[in-house]
Amino acid sequence: MAETVTLWVYRGDQHGGEEKPYEVPLMPGMVVLDAVHWIQAHLAPDLAVRWNCKAAHCGSCSAEVNGRPRLLCKTRLDEFVKEGVPVHVRPMKTFPIIKDLVTDVSWNYRVMRQIPPFQPREPAPFTLYQRDVDRVQEFRRCIECFLCQDVCHVLREHHEQEHYFGPRFMARLAELEMHPMDAGDRVGFIRETAGVGWCNITHCCAEVCPEAIEITNNAIIPLKERVADRYWDPIRGLFRRFQKTAP
Ligand code: SF4
Ligand code: SF4
Ligand code: FES
Repeated sequence: MAETVTLWVYRGDQHGGEEKPYEVPLMPGMVVLDAVHWIQAHLAPDLAVRWNCKAAHCGSCSAEVNGRPRLLCKTRLDEFVKEGVPVHVRPMKTFPIIKDLVTDVSWNYRVMRQIPPFQPREPAPFTLYQRDVDRVQEFRRCIECFLCQDVCHVLREHHEQEHYFGPRFMARLAELEMHPMDAGDRVGFIRETAGVGWCNITHCCAEVCPEAIEITNNAIIPLKERVADRYWDPIRGLFRRFQKTAP
């Protein structure tokens, strides 16, 4: 007889809900999203889950497995079976629930629209160094899964969405600020509106990022340094400004 695994899946909406058990036959290489699809096909056709690529590229299937923010399509079931622990699947806690495993992440898109866009520098710099391209390229890997937003305690526990944009958008701001062809100056915005000061460098966001973006070390800390230079060390701040605008 085929080995089975029991998934405890959250069923509910904004009015409340509970985890319900579903027994699923285990197949080689199965990921949590496969099991959720099996449940939809055989036991609960009204189970809501958001997904698209099933290849860890689109960032749609974000949820929490055993309390950790994860992509359902990148989370192998055998790791839990091997450990003999039950599998609990819940929606992301930081965002309002719509139904079952689907949350409303639209706040993130409203935040994105507030960020001043790329401003091309005229004339273009004479030399574009590979190391500058590589630095920005890391942030371009973001698939907007918002798992980092989900885990960040400033948003998750303290609900400071009014004051802090969260790690995904610190990465976006770093991408723009460090871009060698960008002439924008967002340092005041990063401090006042995006609220970089709310981050206390716990590194949790980087730990859950499926694209292994070093959000804290490579985005947030450099942004904090730029803010500190501008506001607390005006001479270094002027030097950085000159570096950015020099032809
Ligand atoms: S390092 Fe900062 S942004 Fe990342 S989870 Fe911690 S507080 Fe949030
Ligand atoms: S930075 Fe990483 S965890 Fe955050 S949204 Fe982008 S890919 Fe997802
Ligand atoms: S379905 Fe696209 S990332 Fe999981």
